[in-house]
Amino acid sequence: MTEVVVVDSPDSASALAAELILSKVRTKPALRLGVATGATPVSLYRQMAVLAKQFGIDLGELQAYALDEYVGLEPGSPQSFRHFLEEHFIEVLGLDPNCLVVPSGDVATIATAGDHFEKAILDTGGIDCQILGIGSNGHIGFNEPGSSLGSRTRVKTLTENTRRDNGAYFSQPEDVPVHCISQGIGTILEARSLVMLAFGDKKAEAVASAVEGPISASCPASAIQLHPHATVILDEGAASRLEQLRYYKFVWENKPDWQSWRLS
Ligand code: GLP
Repeated sequence: MTEVVVVDSPDSASALAAELILSKVRTKPALRLGVATGATPVSLYRQMAVLAKQFGIDLGELQAYALDEYVGLEPGSPQSFRHFLEEHFIEVLGLDPNCLVVPSGDVATIATAGDHFEKAILDTGGIDCQILGIGSNGHIGFNEPGSSLGSRTRVKTLTENTRRDNGAYFSQPEDVPVHCISQGIGTILEARSLVMLAFGDKKAEAVASAVEGPISASCPASAIQLHPHATVILDEGAASRLEQLRYYKFVWENKPDWQSWRLS
């Protein structure tokens, strides 16, 4: 069963996710972390910085792999996911920018960019832990509804819904690129563990489909049910449509010490 943890606020959820990830870094300092963009993981990255300092956890050997990138933006564009991750992840955690690998959205090399990125992941032994947000239509990375559950990193066409959701990062919504390059669902499922975060009522329906709905390409996030080590950390709003909410809370409250990933 997917582990579902419901807490009172996005800040508590981020702190908990930060503990989970840092407990993995403690065991394996050269952890290969899959990193997500969007508003959701921003406070997780901040909490990781705070807790790493508090518990004396060295992040110097961390390697990071982005989930996705827009295709066709100017190099260095402030709207690119590389730029986002440099600002909200690399700088916040004080990491070497060279530790971050992002699929290339350069049109000139786009035909081979997916294979190139897959090879980069494989060459270093695979992603240990993949952080995920969720789109309001149930996408993960930029795997829109209908994406093959076995897909690999490749170019995708964004839906109008996703382009509208991401419009706030651009001066006008029409500027959101039509194409992106995204890790496939098959790629994501190969990470050794998954940590999904979602906050607010706006995500409640997508979260319910992902966690309790049928496994279907109609809700790409439902593929996480196939993963043996997936943890979904939610605030009350994002959890509000879950039918088994009381049971998830009961499981969490009774989690045995020997299964705990809390820092101390
Ligand atoms: C984008 C990203 C996803 C992210 C989603 C949700 O589309 N490609 O990786 O999960 O947005 O973003 P937010 O966290 O801002 O709601």
